[in-house]
Amino acid sequence: ATTLGASAAASGRYFGTAVAAYKLSDSTYSGILNREFNSITPENEMKWDATEPQQNQFSFGSADQIVARARSIGAKVRGHALAWHQQQPGWTSSLSGTALRNAMLNHVTQVATHYKGQIDSWDVVNEAFEDGGSGARRDSNLQRTGNDWIEAAFRAARAADPAAKLCYNDYNTDGQNAKSNAVYAMVQDFKARGVPIDCVGFQSHFNAQSPLPSDYQANLQRFANLGVDVQITELDIEGSGTAQANSYAAAVRACLAVTRCNGITVWGIRDSDSWRASGTPLLFDNSGNKKAAYNSVLDVL
Ligand code: XIL
Repeated sequence: ATTLGASAAASGRYFGTAVAAYKLSDSTYSGILNREFNSITPENEMKWDATEPQQNQFSFGSADQIVARARSIGAKVRGHALAWHQQQPGWTSSLSGTALRNAMLNHVTQVATHYKGQIDSWDVVNEAFEDGGSGARRDSNLQRTGNDWIEAAFRAARAADPAAKLCYNDYNTDGQNAKSNAVYAMVQDFKARGVPIDCVGFQSHFNAQSPLPSDYQANLQRFANLGVDVQITELDIEGSGTAQANSYAAAVRACLAVTRCNGITVWGIRDSDSWRASGTPLLFDNSGNKKAAYNSVLDVL
């Protein structure tokens, strides 16, 4: 096939991108989106601050625009993210304990209900583990409501939209390390106790300091072996030219080698769309031309 989405579909996978609603009117951006991708993750529009700016007053306009575009081009939607310590609305900072727990659960329920039937996979909880060697939960306002906040969020999401696949998503968990070991133990525990979890997302933001790990495929595989799908959810790789192209090819190959790795999402379309402050981490240049990295990904798919 001649596009990322169609090539991924040939092996039953999707190839997606993060999308910003305000860029949908940019014809270069939209042209690439409509042509190449068969999954969309709203880059910011489904986050807590965007969807519930005042408590119990929901605002779905920008996210709805993205979902409408996905429907019109036949793309899946990865919902991102129901519960996260970042990009929370200001009003959460005056809440704690049961009040915050109930606000979080209400948020999960209302947002998952609004999009019921339209989401392929939800990132139910994002980035709940600490970096480094501790393997601990990240200290956050949500964590301080009790260690069971993650499973409570997953149960609320399942009740609201039983058809959506429910994912845990994180970064620096791409290789085998103390952080990914801790996530692994959580998933194993959820599976053993019947807490609803269907997938694990590996953000996969790579650069010189944190390159594609040599045990990426092995790590994806060990999670898949727990009985969940695995997905590359926010892929971007700093660099340029052949080196960057080779890293992208290796990342895609790792996913293709894991039967339950069912989708890859890059975190933006053109280099200029990247959340990174500088650099050229994506598959299209600022003008929307295909880079070497694009060609290597298409080759491997
Ligand atoms: C980023 C967006 O790309 C930026 O536009 C925003 O300012 C901050 O968040 N991990 C995640 C994503 O799960 O939601 C983040 O997205 C990037 C890191």
